[in-house]
Formats: sequence, C-alpha cells, structure tokens
Amino acid sequence: DDYQADGHEHFMHKEIVEQPEAVHRCLRGRLDERFATAHLGGLNMDPREAREFRRVKILGCGSAYYAGQLGAQFIEEVARIPADAEPASEFRYRNPVIEKDTLYVAVSQSGETFDTLVAVQELKRKGGRVVGLVNVVGSSIARECDGGIYLHAGPEVAVASTKALTNMGVAFALLGIHLGRIRDLSPADGARLIAGLQRLPEQIEAVLKDEERLASIARRLSAAESLFYIGRTRGYPVAREGAQKLKEISYRHAEAYQTSELKHGPLALISPDVPTVAIVPDDDLVERNTGALHEIAARSGPLYVVTHPGVELGDVSAEPITVPKNETELDPIVLTIPLQLLAYHASRELGHDVDKPRNLAKSVTVE
Ligand code: G6P
Repeated sequence: DDYQADGHEHFMHKEIVEQPEAVHRCLRGRLDERFATAHLGGLNMDPREAREFRRVKILGCGSAYYAGQLGAQFIEEVARIPADAEPASEFRYRNPVIEKDTLYVAVSQSGETFDTLVAVQELKRKGGRVVGLVNVVGSSIARECDGGIYLHAGPEVAVASTKALTNMGVAFALLGIHLGRIRDLSPADGARLIAGLQRLPEQIEAVLKDEERLASIARRLSAAESLFYIGRTRGYPVAREGAQKLKEISYRHAEAYQTSELKHGPLALISPDVPTVAIVPDDDLVERNTGALHEIAARSGPLYVVTHPGVELGDVSAEPITVPKNETELDPIVLTIPLQLLAYHASRELGHDVDKPRNLAKSVTVE
C-alpha cells in the first residue's frame, strides 16, 4: 500500500490534481480514430445484441448516481437510445420490471456498495443484461456483471469522489460513442467526440491552474449557511454533484435545482445571504439561463457563474468562473472540476476533516 498523499495536504487534493492523468488512463487504447469509435472489449457485447437495446437504465448511489444521470443524457443524445438513471438504493426496493431489451449499467467507484450490488444481483436473477462501470478491479460488482468498463482512475482514498467520478463521465462517453457508432451516430460526429475526449486532460489542467481564485471564492461561499446550485439539462447533474460535494465535506446546506424550475419554486428564498452557483455552458440555452440570472440578481442574490469564454452575462453582477469549452455533450465533465475545488477549499477553510467527513463512509458495504 504505497499510495500516499505525496506532499498534498489531503488525499482529496491529490486526487483532484491527478485527474488529467486519470482521464488519460481511462482513454488509453480505447479510441479508434479510423472508425471514429471506442473499443470496449470488456463489455463482452456482440454488436447484434447492442443494436437491439431499446432502453438504457443506469444504477448507482451518491456521486455515482449523479454520474449516471450525466451518462444517461449522453447516451440518449449520442446513441439515440432512451436512457435514465435511478439510485440503486431505490431500484432494489421497488420490484421493478426487468426488460430483456434494456441494457442495465451499474456504476460504482469501489465496486462494493451494497445497495448497488444487491440491485445487480436482483437484475441477474431475473435475466437482466448488466454491465459495470467500476473502478476497483475484481471488486464484487465487477465480478457480478456480465462485462464492463474499468475506470482506471487509480486508488481513491478521500471519501468525496473526484477522479473516479470524472472517469465515470469519460467511460459513459466511451459507451455512448460505442453504441452510437453501431446504431446511427455519424462518422463525423464520432470523430468530433473522440477529438473532444482527447482534449479533456489539458482542459482539466487549465481549470486546476485557477485554484487560487477558486479558493478565494470558496472562502466567501463558506460563510453562507445555505446555497443554491442551479443548472439545466446536462448542467443539472453538474449542479447536483457540486451541491452534494459541498454538503458532504463543508456541512453547509446546498440545494441543487433545475434553473428552469427556479421560477416555479424556490425563487422566494433568494436573498443577499443565499449565494447561487449557476452552471451556464455556452449552448443553445444560454439566453434562457441568463434570464434566470437576472431574476436572482434582482433579489440581490450573490451569483457565481461557471461558464465558458465568450458567454455574455450582460449587466448581471456575477463572479464568472470560466472553464475551457469542449464539445457540448462533453462539457459537463470539465464544468464539474471547479466545483470540486470550491467544496475542497470551503471544507478546508472551515477546518473540517476534508478526507473523512463525519457520518460518511467511502463505501457503504452494509444494509
Ligand atoms: C458512499 C460515499 C459516496 C459515494 C457512494 C457510492 O455513499 O460516501 O461518496 O458516491 O457511496 O460509492 P461507490 O463506491 O459505489 O461509487
């Protein structure tokens, strides 16, 4: 066991910084530029079988579930297969209908989360086709599944998942491209997404260079008792993950909300004491998103906007956190990185045990 924090104050910090290398490892040997696809031999899946799936259902707990939400959006968009994610902890208790033409995907860093493992066992009992997106090689979930994609993030010690979560996003992208290219994703779009995946490590590196500024923003955020994280469509799981991280390690209350739903719900809670972290990618919803920012600014809510270069926030008073733009479908992977650093520095600022937050375990292997 020679995995050490190596000069980092915390494992979480080390694991955040390791992400460019971790992404490299996940991509290595899996990209095929000639056929604009991804090779995933571990899936053990015949193309004839893969063409028949009519649905994809993704199961995981905690951050793995949020990664599953991102994965579902990616697969639906790129492979044009209806896809959704559900917490494995819920799925296992509701006697779900197991369909023969559904591809089930279990997601887990540890491969030992009991709720996810039991969900997989129940699926297998009823003849469901399950593949795993798992980090720990040879773990229980990896062994139960019919095949899968190893995340190759390397060991992760901090309870708050960072590099494993990022690689879950990458592995879902590989799966989406793989399925898409044997169904109806064009070679041009396959090539575009593969080039986007190859840009990820350097783009993540660029976000990490902004750490000092993110730390100073985190100091301001950590003073608030309660915060909102908002995003829509593929930005929503990003917001959920960001809020979850902050709650887990800084013990500040944070609620993730769909930007589109704010006006149908908690807008009245916005005040100078309640900051909002808004995810505003450079996509076709940018105008609608800036509309929501105006609503927040009008109620004097402090605004921090995770966005891309060139996005015009108009006259809204907001602190921008700009990250490099990738292909729209892959943007969520990069947009998540600054939120890790915000949570990390908020926790550190408040003097909490960053790597071992109270009441949480790295993997919950019991009922
Ligand atoms: C626990 C951890 C979470 C993690 C979840 C799933 O609840 O505290 O951080 O996301 O388990 O873990 P897994 O190993 O299955 O990804």
